[in-house]
Amino acid sequence: MSSNQKSAHTIENLYDATDLITQEVLKRYEQTPDPRLKEIMLSLVKHVHSFAKEVKLSSKEWLFLMQYLEETGKWCSPGRNEFMIFSDALGLSMLTVTQDYPRPAHATEATLVGPFLLENAPQFAMGTDISNGAAGTPMYAKGRILDTEGQPIANCVIDVWHSDDRGLYDVQDDFEKSGPWGRAQLTTGANGEYTFWSVLPVDYPIPQDGTAIRMLRATTGRSWRPAHLHFRIQAPGHRQLITHIFDKNSKNLDGDAVFGVRPSLIADFVYHDNGVAPDGKKMDKDFYTLDYDFVMTR
Ligand code: BEZ
Ligand code: FE
Repeated sequence: MSSNQKSAHTIENLYDATDLITQEVLKRYEQTPDPRLKEIMLSLVKHVHSFAKEVKLSSKEWLFLMQYLEETGKWCSPGRNEFMIFSDALGLSMLTVTQDYPRPAHATEATLVGPFLLENAPQFAMGTDISNGAAGTPMYAKGRILDTEGQPIANCVIDVWHSDDRGLYDVQDDFEKSGPWGRAQLTTGANGEYTFWSVLPVDYPIPQDGTAIRMLRATTGRSWRPAHLHFRIQAPGHRQLITHIFDKNSKNLDGDAVFGVRPSLIADFVYHDNGVAPDGKKMDKDFYTLDYDFVMTR
Protein backbone atom coordinates (compact mmCIF):
# COMPACT_ATOMS: atom_id res chain seq x y z
CA MET A 1 0.00 0.00 0.00
CA SER A 2 1.41 3.44 -0.96
CA SER A 3 1.70 6.16 1.70
CA ASN A 4 -1.11 8.09 -0.07
CA GLN A 5 -3.48 5.18 0.26
CA LYS A 6 -2.47 4.76 3.90
CA SER A 7 -3.34 8.35 4.85
CA ALA A 8 -6.64 8.16 2.94
CA HIS A 9 -7.48 5.06 4.93
CA THR A 10 -6.67 6.84 8.24
CA ILE A 11 -8.88 9.80 7.38
CA GLU A 12 -11.69 7.46 6.44
CA ASN A 13 -11.43 5.85 9.87
CA LEU A 14 -11.55 9.22 11.54
CA TYR A 15 -14.79 10.06 9.73
CA ASP A 16 -16.20 6.68 10.67
CA ALA A 17 -15.33 7.34 14.31
CA THR A 18 -17.00 10.76 14.45
CA ASP A 19 -20.12 9.38 12.78
CA LEU A 20 -20.17 6.55 15.31
CA ILE A 21 -20.06 9.05 18.19
CA THR A 22 -22.99 10.99 16.72
CA GLN A 23 -25.00 7.79 16.22
CA GLU A 24 -24.31 6.61 19.76
CA VAL A 25 -25.31 9.97 21.26
CA LEU A 26 -28.49 10.10 19.18
CA LYS A 27 -29.39 6.56 20.25
CA ARG A 28 -29.04 7.57 23.92
CA TYR A 29 -31.19 10.71 23.57
CA GLU A 30 -33.86 8.68 21.74
CA GLN A 31 -34.81 7.57 25.26
CA THR A 32 -36.00 11.09 26.27
CA PRO A 33 -39.56 10.60 27.59
CA ASP A 34 -41.01 14.04 26.76
CA PRO A 35 -41.71 14.10 22.98
CA ARG A 36 -40.98 17.82 22.47
CA LEU A 37 -37.78 17.67 24.52
CA LYS A 38 -36.77 14.58 22.54
CA GLU A 39 -37.36 16.37 19.24
CA ILE A 40 -35.30 19.37 20.39
CA MET A 41 -32.44 17.29 21.84
CA LEU A 42 -32.10 15.00 18.82
CA SER A 43 -32.03 17.97 16.46
CA LEU A 44 -29.59 19.84 18.72
CA VAL A 45 -27.18 16.89 18.82
CA LYS A 46 -27.40 16.46 15.02
CA HIS A 47 -26.77 20.14 14.30
CA VAL A 48 -24.09 20.71 16.95
CA HIS A 49 -22.19 17.61 15.82
CA SER A 50 -22.46 18.49 12.15
CA PHE A 51 -21.35 22.10 12.95
CA ALA A 52 -18.27 20.78 14.80
CA LYS A 53 -17.49 18.47 11.89
CA GLU A 54 -18.06 21.11 9.23
CA VAL A 55 -15.64 23.60 10.83
CA LYS A 56 -13.38 20.78 12.13
CA LEU A 57 -13.60 22.30 15.61
CA SER A 58 -10.31 21.70 17.41
CA SER A 59 -9.98 20.83 21.11
CA LYS A 60 -8.30 24.19 21.66
CA GLU A 61 -11.25 26.04 20.08
CA TRP A 62 -13.71 23.93 22.05
CA LEU A 63 -11.90 24.80 25.31
CA PHE A 64 -11.94 28.51 24.37
CA LEU A 65 -15.70 28.26 23.84
CA MET A 66 -16.24 26.53 27.20
CA GLN A 67 -14.24 29.24 29.00
CA TYR A 68 -16.06 31.96 27.06
CA LEU A 69 -19.42 30.53 28.12
CA GLU A 70 -18.22 30.35 31.73
CA GLU A 71 -17.23 34.01 31.58
CA THR A 72 -20.55 34.88 29.92
CA GLY A 73 -22.34 33.37 32.92
CA LYS A 74 -20.33 35.59 35.24
CA TRP A 75 -21.65 38.71 33.45
CA CYS A 76 -25.24 37.70 34.21
CA SER A 77 -27.26 39.28 37.03
CA PRO A 78 -30.91 40.29 37.47
CA GLY A 79 -31.51 42.84 34.69
CA ARG A 80 -28.44 41.74 32.69
CA ASN A 81 -28.56 38.44 30.83
CA GLU A 82 -25.38 38.23 28.74
CA PHE A 83 -26.54 34.98 27.09
CA MET A 84 -29.60 36.85 25.85
CA ILE A 85 -27.38 39.55 24.35
CA PHE A 86 -25.51 36.77 22.50
CA SER A 87 -28.79 35.33 21.27
CA ASP A 88 -29.87 38.82 20.16
CA ALA A 89 -26.56 39.51 18.38
CA LEU A 90 -26.70 36.14 16.57
CA GLY A 91 -30.24 36.89 15.33
CA LEU A 92 -31.66 33.91 17.24
CA SER A 93 -34.01 36.08 19.33
CA MET A 94 -35.53 37.74 16.26
CA LEU A 95 -35.75 34.38 14.47
CA THR A 96 -37.87 32.92 17.28
CA VAL A 97 -39.99 36.11 17.58
CA THR A 98 -40.63 36.02 13.82
CA GLN A 99 -41.49 32.32 13.90
CA ASP A 100 -43.75 32.67 16.92
CA TYR A 101 -45.45 35.92 15.93
CA PRO A 102 -45.89 35.89 12.14
CA ARG A 103 -46.65 39.42 10.97
CA PRO A 104 -50.20 39.97 12.25
CA ALA A 105 -52.64 41.48 9.76
CA HIS A 106 -53.73 44.95 10.96
CA ALA A 107 -51.95 44.54 14.31
CA THR A 108 -48.70 45.78 15.85
CA GLU A 109 -45.60 43.71 15.13
CA ALA A 110 -43.55 42.13 17.90
CA THR A 111 -39.82 42.46 18.31
CA LEU A 112 -37.24 41.12 20.75
CA VAL A 113 -37.48 41.72 24.48
CA GLY A 114 -33.79 42.53 25.11
CA PRO A 115 -31.94 41.90 28.35
CA PHE A 116 -33.25 44.80 30.47
CA LEU A 117 -36.91 43.98 31.22
CA LEU A 118 -37.59 43.85 34.97
CA GLU A 119 -40.67 42.30 36.54
CA ASN A 120 -42.46 44.42 39.16
CA ALA A 121 -41.60 47.78 37.63
CA PRO A 122 -42.87 50.79 39.63
CA GLN A 123 -46.48 51.71 38.88
CA PHE A 124 -47.27 55.22 37.66
CA ALA A 125 -50.57 57.02 37.03
CA MET A 126 -51.31 57.92 33.40
CA GLY A 127 -49.88 61.27 32.37
CA THR A 128 -47.15 61.35 35.02
CA ASP A 129 -43.39 61.58 34.60
CA ILE A 130 -41.72 58.16 34.67
CA SER A 131 -38.16 59.47 34.12
CA ASN A 132 -37.48 59.55 37.87
CA GLY A 133 -34.50 61.85 37.40
CA ALA A 134 -33.13 60.30 34.17
CA ALA A 135 -31.12 62.81 32.14
CA GLY A 136 -32.39 63.89 28.74
CA THR A 137 -34.75 66.02 26.66
CA PRO A 138 -38.36 65.78 27.88
CA MET A 139 -40.65 63.56 25.84
CA TYR A 140 -44.41 63.20 26.05
CA ALA A 141 -45.78 59.87 24.72
CA LYS A 142 -49.41 59.08 24.10
CA GLY A 143 -51.58 56.67 22.18
CA ARG A 144 -54.21 53.98 22.51
CA ILE A 145 -54.31 50.23 22.95
CA LEU A 146 -56.85 48.91 20.43
CA ASP A 147 -58.24 45.57 19.29
CA THR A 148 -58.24 44.64 15.60
CA GLU A 149 -61.74 46.14 15.26
CA GLY A 150 -60.36 49.50 16.42
CA GLN A 151 -62.04 49.34 19.84
CA PRO A 152 -60.09 50.58 22.89
CA ILE A 153 -59.00 47.95 25.41
CA ALA A 154 -59.37 48.76 29.11
CA ASN A 155 -57.24 47.31 31.90
CA CYS A 156 -54.13 46.74 29.76
CA VAL A 157 -50.94 46.55 31.77
CA ILE A 158 -48.19 48.41 29.90
CA ASP A 159 -44.54 48.05 30.86
CA VAL A 160 -42.31 50.70 29.32
CA TRP A 161 -38.51 50.99 29.69
CA HIS A 162 -35.84 52.94 27.86
CA SER A 163 -32.38 54.55 27.95
CA ASP A 164 -31.43 58.03 29.12
CA ASP A 165 -29.42 60.51 27.05
CA ARG A 166 -26.16 58.66 27.80
CA GLY A 167 -27.64 55.58 26.15
CA LEU A 168 -27.76 53.71 29.47
CA TYR A 169 -30.60 51.89 31.22
CA ASP A 170 -31.28 52.12 34.96
CA VAL A 171 -29.95 48.56 35.43
CA GLN A 172 -26.61 49.67 33.92
CA ASP A 173 -26.44 52.60 36.33
CA ASP A 174 -25.97 52.52 40.11
CA PHE A 175 -29.27 50.63 40.46
CA GLU A 176 -28.79 49.86 44.16
CA LYS A 177 -28.54 53.57 44.91
CA SER A 178 -30.73 55.25 42.27
CA GLY A 179 -33.38 52.54 41.84
CA PRO A 180 -35.44 52.31 38.66
CA TRP A 181 -35.71 55.25 36.28
CA GLY A 182 -37.12 55.47 32.74
CA ARG A 183 -39.17 52.41 33.63
CA ALA A 184 -42.84 52.12 34.58
CA GLN A 185 -45.98 50.06 34.62
CA LEU A 186 -49.18 51.85 33.55
CA THR A 187 -52.75 50.54 33.37
CA THR A 188 -55.26 51.74 30.77
CA GLY A 189 -58.77 52.93 31.65
CA ALA A 190 -61.98 52.54 29.62
CA ASN A 191 -60.66 54.71 26.75
CA GLY A 192 -57.62 52.43 26.23
CA GLU A 193 -55.32 55.49 26.31
CA TYR A 194 -51.81 55.72 27.64
CA THR A 195 -49.90 58.94 28.32
CA PHE A 196 -46.63 59.57 30.10
CA TRP A 197 -43.72 61.96 30.31
CA SER A 198 -40.11 60.79 30.25
CA VAL A 199 -36.90 61.62 28.39
CA LEU A 200 -36.08 61.01 24.73
CA PRO A 201 -34.22 57.70 24.24
CA VAL A 202 -31.02 57.85 22.16
CA ASP A 203 -28.99 55.39 20.06
CA TYR A 204 -26.68 53.29 22.18
CA PRO A 205 -24.19 50.43 21.82
CA ILE A 206 -24.84 47.08 23.52
CA PRO A 207 -23.03 46.78 26.90
CA GLN A 208 -19.34 47.51 26.41
CA ASP A 209 -17.95 45.30 29.14
CA GLY A 210 -19.21 41.76 28.51
CA THR A 211 -18.41 38.82 26.26
CA ALA A 212 -21.04 39.62 23.59
CA ILE A 213 -19.36 42.92 22.67
CA ARG A 214 -15.99 41.12 22.32
CA MET A 215 -17.57 38.68 19.87
CA LEU A 216 -19.07 41.58 17.86
CA ARG A 217 -15.78 43.51 17.82
CA ALA A 218 -14.04 40.43 16.44
CA THR A 219 -16.74 39.82 13.80
CA THR A 220 -19.29 42.30 12.41
CA GLY A 221 -18.10 45.43 14.21
CA ARG A 222 -21.79 46.41 14.51
CA SER A 223 -22.76 47.03 18.11
CA TRP A 224 -25.20 49.97 18.01
CA ARG A 225 -28.96 49.97 18.48
CA PRO A 226 -31.25 52.66 17.06
CA ALA A 227 -33.06 54.87 19.64
CA HIS A 228 -36.22 53.17 20.89
CA LEU A 229 -38.76 52.73 23.66
CA HIS A 230 -39.53 49.18 24.86
CA PHE A 231 -43.13 48.14 25.49
CA ARG A 232 -44.70 45.01 26.92
CA ILE A 233 -48.48 45.13 26.74
CA GLN A 234 -50.72 42.62 28.49
CA ALA A 235 -54.34 43.11 27.43
CA PRO A 236 -57.19 40.96 28.78
CA GLY A 237 -58.23 38.31 26.22
CA HIS A 238 -55.34 39.23 23.89
CA ARG A 239 -51.90 37.89 23.10
CA GLN A 240 -49.09 39.57 25.04
CA LEU A 241 -47.18 41.99 22.83
CA ILE A 242 -43.49 42.74 23.35
CA THR A 243 -42.21 45.39 21.00
CA HIS A 244 -40.25 48.63 20.50
CA ILE A 245 -41.05 51.98 18.95
CA PHE A 246 -38.02 53.25 17.03
CA ASP A 247 -37.15 56.90 16.40
CA LYS A 248 -37.34 57.63 12.67
CA ASN A 249 -34.38 60.04 13.02
CA SER A 250 -32.03 57.41 14.40
CA LYS A 251 -28.78 56.88 12.47
CA ASN A 252 -28.70 53.15 13.21
CA LEU A 253 -32.05 51.97 11.83
CA ASP A 254 -30.26 50.08 9.03
CA GLY A 255 -27.66 48.34 11.14
CA ASP A 256 -29.28 47.37 14.45
CA ALA A 257 -26.77 45.13 16.27
CA VAL A 258 -29.60 42.76 17.19
CA PHE A 259 -31.75 42.83 14.00
CA GLY A 260 -34.84 44.12 15.86
CA VAL A 261 -36.06 46.89 13.54
CA ARG A 262 -39.40 46.44 11.74
CA PRO A 263 -40.47 49.28 9.40
CA SER A 264 -43.95 49.36 10.95
CA LEU A 265 -42.38 50.14 14.33
CA ILE A 266 -40.58 53.31 13.17
CA ALA A 267 -42.33 56.45 14.41
CA ASP A 268 -41.95 60.19 14.40
CA PHE A 269 -40.69 61.61 17.67
CA VAL A 270 -41.73 65.20 16.92
CA TYR A 271 -39.54 68.10 18.06
CA HIS A 272 -41.19 71.18 19.66
CA ASP A 273 -39.76 74.49 20.80
CA ASN A 274 -40.67 75.48 24.34
CA GLY A 275 -44.38 76.24 24.76
CA VAL A 276 -47.53 74.36 25.68
CA ALA A 277 -47.43 70.53 25.50
CA PRO A 278 -50.43 68.46 24.32
CA ASP A 279 -51.49 67.84 27.92
CA GLY A 280 -51.50 71.59 28.65
CA LYS A 281 -48.19 71.55 30.53
CA LYS A 282 -46.11 74.71 30.03
CA MET A 283 -42.61 73.75 28.90
CA ASP A 284 -39.81 76.26 29.37
CA LYS A 285 -37.45 74.15 27.24
CA ASP A 286 -37.81 72.20 24.02
CA PHE A 287 -39.39 68.76 24.08
CA TYR A 288 -40.53 65.88 21.88
CA THR A 289 -43.88 64.17 21.44
CA LEU A 290 -44.77 60.68 20.25
CA ASP A 291 -48.25 59.54 19.26
CA TYR A 292 -48.49 55.79 18.60
CA ASP A 293 -51.44 53.36 18.79
CA PHE A 294 -50.87 49.67 19.47
CA VAL A 295 -53.20 47.06 17.97
CA MET A 296 -53.45 43.76 19.83
CA THR A 297 -54.36 40.31 18.45
CA ARG A 298 -56.53 37.78 20.23
C1 BEZ B 1 -32.03 46.57 24.42
O1 BEZ B 1 -32.76 46.93 23.53
O2 BEZ B 1 -32.22 47.06 25.52
C2 BEZ B 1 -30.89 45.63 24.13
C3 BEZ B 1 -31.08 44.60 23.25
C4 BEZ B 1 -30.03 43.74 22.98
C5 BEZ B 1 -28.80 43.91 23.59
C6 BEZ B 1 -28.63 44.96 24.48
C7 BEZ B 1 -29.68 45.82 24.75
FE1 FE C 1 -33.24 48.85 24.45
